[in-house]
Amino acid sequence: MKEDKKGRAREATLDPDDWAEMRALGHRMMDDMIDHLEHIRTKPVRPPAKKDVEDICVPLTEDGEGEELVYEVFKRSILPHTLLLPRPNFWGLVGGQGSPYGMMAEMLMAGTNGGQEFSFAEARVNAQVIEWIKQMIGFPKTAGGVLVGGGSEANFTGLAVARNAKAQVDVKAKGLQGLTKRMTLYCGDETHHCLERSVELLGLGNEAMRFIPTDEECRTRTEVLEKTIKQDRRNGCQPFCVIGCAGTVNTGAFDDLDALADIARRENLWFHVDGAFGAWLKISRTHKHLVKGMDRADSLAVDFHKWMNMPYAIGCTLVKDRKEHFSTFAYGHEAEYLKSAFEVSNDQLTNPHNLALPLSRAFTSLKAYMLLRAYGTKKYSDLVQKSLDQMKRLGDLIERDPELELAAPVASNIVCFRYRANKFSKRETELLNRMIIEALNKEAFLMISDTTVKGAYMLRAANVNHRTRMEDLEAMIASVKENGRRLLPEMRAQKTKKVASR
Ligand SMILES: Cc1ncc(COP(=O)(O)O)c(C=O)c1O
Repeated sequence: MKEDKKGRAREATLDPDDWAEMRALGHRMMDDMIDHLEHIRTKPVRPPAKKDVEDICVPLTEDGEGEELVYEVFKRSILPHTLLLPRPNFWGLVGGQGSPYGMMAEMLMAGTNGGQEFSFAEARVNAQVIEWIKQMIGFPKTAGGVLVGGGSEANFTGLAVARNAKAQVDVKAKGLQGLTKRMTLYCGDETHHCLERSVELLGLGNEAMRFIPTDEECRTRTEVLEKTIKQDRRNGCQPFCVIGCAGTVNTGAFDDLDALADIARRENLWFHVDGAFGAWLKISRTHKHLVKGMDRADSLAVDFHKWMNMPYAIGCTLVKDRKEHFSTFAYGHEAEYLKSAFEVSNDQLTNPHNLALPLSRAFTSLKAYMLLRAYGTKKYSDLVQKSLDQMKRLGDLIERDPELELAAPVASNIVCFRYRANKFSKRETELLNRMIIEALNKEAFLMISDTTVKGAYMLRAANVNHRTRMEDLEAMIASVKENGRRLLPEMRAQKTKKVASR
């Protein structure tokens, strides 16, 4: 057993033997990470080589290797080979960037190691963040909300409340076994797959999900929606929820949320909106109209780690009916060991323990609080607007370029396009564009993604990136064209060879 400064035997603890040494290491870590972020623009994206993997994947030792040594492994073999999501030319998936101040807020969050509970400062910070978010995205003051780990969890939480609120039996007690009618729900065929997963996890079965066809602009066709609801009622089902997309992940399309809200109201259905990134159009100057009707949702899922660029993982579910929200997650039987702590809390309806799955929680609201308060609403509006302006400009550039073509008009912050190959079949064009994306991936993995829009294979750039400059997007399309030009003759030669050999 080690001894302390006074020669007393030290019992096991995770606190350092030498606080001064730990402080110095902490300062070094902070300096190194600030350095890393300061120079992110010039960092290469390199997956780990064999020697790095060997450095990472080692047997766990009994005595530990010490903080310094493990930090050196991080610096040497892990950090330089991370996916490097924080970079100006990341437009794959819907990837947020984080920020230096966000990173530091995360450190404070871990330092307090607290939950958001029981009338202490954490509860105030959490409640304040929920208030600010409602104001920013125009949700009524009376609504409640809870911070969760991201868009998937936020959608799951909203749908759980929808299911329990609309079920004809007490789902908490009886489960879905108690139902006499199949509960059905409705969404566009461009809806994010996490909603299907939620429906499966909620025990409703994905066959309960009616994927309504979308129009040419990838918006849910409301006349088909209405017909399908009526048909289901005639067939003995219980329609219970309409899901609206405020920003589809494929093309950034927005449903007519007002029209969906009208249908939901007329049919007495729950209206849930997935606004993972798109809800933030509310704070844009030019695209607010696309989220008209979002405030009529019964529940709304929104992410902070995407367009708000807060460090992963943070999202939020807002629910208008606080009692339904509370009763979905509050413990059916009270845990004896929590009783007195819960009694201290002023308002059980705002306590996050009662509003989502986790009991123990990180002090997640702290980073949102610090970032929102430090930068204010204008900065966030400017960032959203910047991405929208950049993507409009990118769309214009592509439209004017004879070598490229757009999949559809640019609705918001996602541009789907492809390299145009005259006299190529659909399959050949797809093959060529697949080769192009492979080449771009080698340059910087996941610089852009690919997807299928109305049956056509497309390259896809989604911009929520606060580090992107217009020149970065211009460089990306230059690279697409360069690779297209390089690969096109190769493809043509293959095509001729195939015809000749027939
Ligand atoms: C529209 C939409 N909904 C939900 C999600 C899932 O969010 P998360 O990745 O934060 O779980 C995404 C992710 O890209 C999304 O774009």
